Amino acid sequence: MSTKWVIGNWKMNPADPTEAAALAQSLLHTVQAADISCQVGVAPSFLHLVSVRNILKEWVHVGAQDIAAHQTPVGIGAFTGDVSAVQLMNVGLDFVLVGHSERRQYYNETANTLAAKIRQTFASGLSVIYCVGESKASYECQETLDVLTEQLAVLADIVKNEPSTSPKNLPQLFIAYEPVWAIGTGLTPTLDEIEQVHGFIRQTIQKFGMNAPILYGGSVNDTNAAEFARSTMIDGALVGGASLKIESFAKIISAFSE
Ligand code: PGA
Repeated sequence: MSTKWVIGNWKMNPADPTEAAALAQSLLHTVQAADISCQVGVAPSFLHLVSVRNILKEWVHVGAQDIAAHQTPVGIGAFTGDVSAVQLMNVGLDFVLVGHSERRQYYNETANTLAAKIRQTFASGLSVIYCVGESKASYECQETLDVLTEQLAVLADIVKNEPSTSPKNLPQLFIAYEPVWAIGTGLTPTLDEIEQVHGFIRQTIQKFGMNAPILYGGSVNDTNAAEFARSTMIDGALVGGASLKIESFAKIISAFSE
């Protein structure tokens, strides 16, 4: 059976560093105590990355929610507000989220920007979780696959570095299918719909010579996780809101461990 992945996206939470540390401590106890066979990761805000990394050590993969698109020879330079892939690598991170719909929507991240971010991440040996997904309007017009074709095209031009696993033995690339209308709404597509989309994503990236675990994200919770976890077409979950409640996140982790 292939490995399953459960990744928490903490977004701009929590407000206080002591809360972030407490959440990380609870997560550490969860993964140490239970019979966990899936791989677990979290993406805290930049402010909490180092403390969370130090708490979770080798038990949980830790990643960033964003990365600088600008290329500089050694990962430093005059880019106010940015954090480079080299800086992230030097604090021991494992992966970076790229293309989350909130960044596409609120920061107008274009295909060129996303491609640059993916290149920077790969060049530093970190893994990319590339998020794709259609809006409600596109879903209703049955344009999901068209939207995904366009979003996945960003990957086509990116020459894959070898080896295809990062130094930490993670796959270099993950895809997270996150319908925008499912994020934070309590709504999800049906299992059948998700499986069809995941099959389409797999075929598309294979044409680019790529392979990647394909995660589902969007209102994954402790009730629906078991159904998603049983599917051979779903390699894991990218979890927002429920990753901030340790009881829920622990249940999702155990669902993907069965
Ligand atoms: P959600 O968020 O689980 O709160 O729907 C998922 C995400 O945005 O990655």
